Amino acid sequence: MDKFRIEGGRRLEGTLRISGAKNAALPELAACLLTNEVVELRNLPRVRDIQTMARLLGHMSVGVEGPEGEGAEARVRLRAETISHAEAPYDLVKTMRASVLVLGPLVGRTGYARVSMPGGCAIGARPIDLHLKALERLGAEITTEHGYVEAKAKRLRGARLVFDRITVTGTENVMMAATLAEGETVLENVAREPEVSDLAQLLVAMGARIEGAGTSTIRIEGVASLHGAKHEVIADRIATGTFLAAGAITGGDLLLEGARGEHLDAVVDKLAECGVTVTKEQEGLRVRGGGRLRGADVTTEEYPGFPTDMQAQYMALVTQAAGTSIVTETIFENRFLHASELVRMGADIAIRGNQAIVRGPTPLSGAAVIASDLRASASLVIAGLAAQGTTIVDRVYHIDRGYERIEEKLRALGGRIERISG
Ligand code: EPZ
Repeated sequence: MDKFRIEGGRRLEGTLRISGAKNAALPELAACLLTNEVVELRNLPRVRDIQTMARLLGHMSVGVEGPEGEGAEARVRLRAETISHAEAPYDLVKTMRASVLVLGPLVGRTGYARVSMPGGCAIGARPIDLHLKALERLGAEITTEHGYVEAKAKRLRGARLVFDRITVTGTENVMMAATLAEGETVLENVAREPEVSDLAQLLVAMGARIEGAGTSTIRIEGVASLHGAKHEVIADRIATGTFLAAGAITGGDLLLEGARGEHLDAVVDKLAECGVTVTKEQEGLRVRGGGRLRGADVTTEEYPGFPTDMQAQYMALVTQAAGTSIVTETIFENRFLHASELVRMGADIAIRGNQAIVRGPTPLSGAAVIASDLRASASLVIAGLAAQGTTIVDRVYHIDRGYERIEEKLRALGGRIERISG
């Protein structure tokens, strides 16, 4: 298992291009199942989850050319001319829960899908009951046995449904299925994340009839079929937030090219409250650290609130801020796994239920730490950049799932970080 060795105490400075958003590209890859024509995605992030989804589609005999190219030119061409078997097997789903995103498109296109139930993961149980309930409302017959979900429908019928709670991939799954349903579907209490809107943009380019993406209510008028399209994946707002935190904690000066400031206002506002200067520039976002950091409370919320995917990175930052910061996690039931590792580096963090009370600043000293999930690993890298001495982050395969060669990018900005293959 690869590790990172980080020598802390260096300011990050320079310009970095933000890659395409993993959490937009994943549903957009699955959307290719809705048509027998070519779908081309550009600005594709070269991360492991994308490779896993491409492999899953290939398993269903979808023609996959790529992913190839670098940066904004990174792209993949997909063609689901025929779907040999509409199944997502356990050995692929267990490595990536987002595989469940093939469920809606498969049922919408072929009337059948058999998808392994995604198990829980480090941050929570993460059931998919709301996905299944919604597909049933659209007329799918759902059975779950032997660890698989089977969904059948001659043709889905449009319906009006209200999600019991906001679910990002639940919204995406059902929106994709509804594009080929008979009649109108009205989805209420849906996720408003930019990745949902970006997916809707691709679906509309494919001929779908969708209104309201980005708001709490999405209307979809079913059509008989969808055609191919080309689409550029939006910039990754969580990768952007991660590098903002890294620039801030090292007292650096970073220009994040392609960053979409309007997609992370809650993060930028919270960083400003901490005394971090983030400015919207022509090319993207610029962060300048160096001033005294002040602690500030934060509560994670669905978009446009402060994203849960930035909670771990923010916690690392405020270990260096003066005062007390209460970090409240409202989306997942177990998303503080990074806290104990930060404490081992010298942070002062006490967990009370779904709150982490962070008192700072406390000097961080390099230590051997273990990553438990994607964003927790980013949090440990950020702490390592600020710590005195050497930090070894183990199990960095977590970070490779969602960050494109992060050690190369950080090194190019002056960070002292190297990958130790092991
Ligand atoms: C998406 O996961 C993201 N993943 C997650 O990013 C992100 O943390 C999450 O949304 C919240 O923003 C992708 O987009 C691929 P949810 P998702 O359904 O859709 C509960 C990362 O770091 N729930 O919005 O799985 C669920 O347990 C990853 O990139 C049900 O109870 O999250 C959770 O508590 C981590 N039943 C809450 O809703 C359901 O059927 C929100 O989950 C579905 C969800």
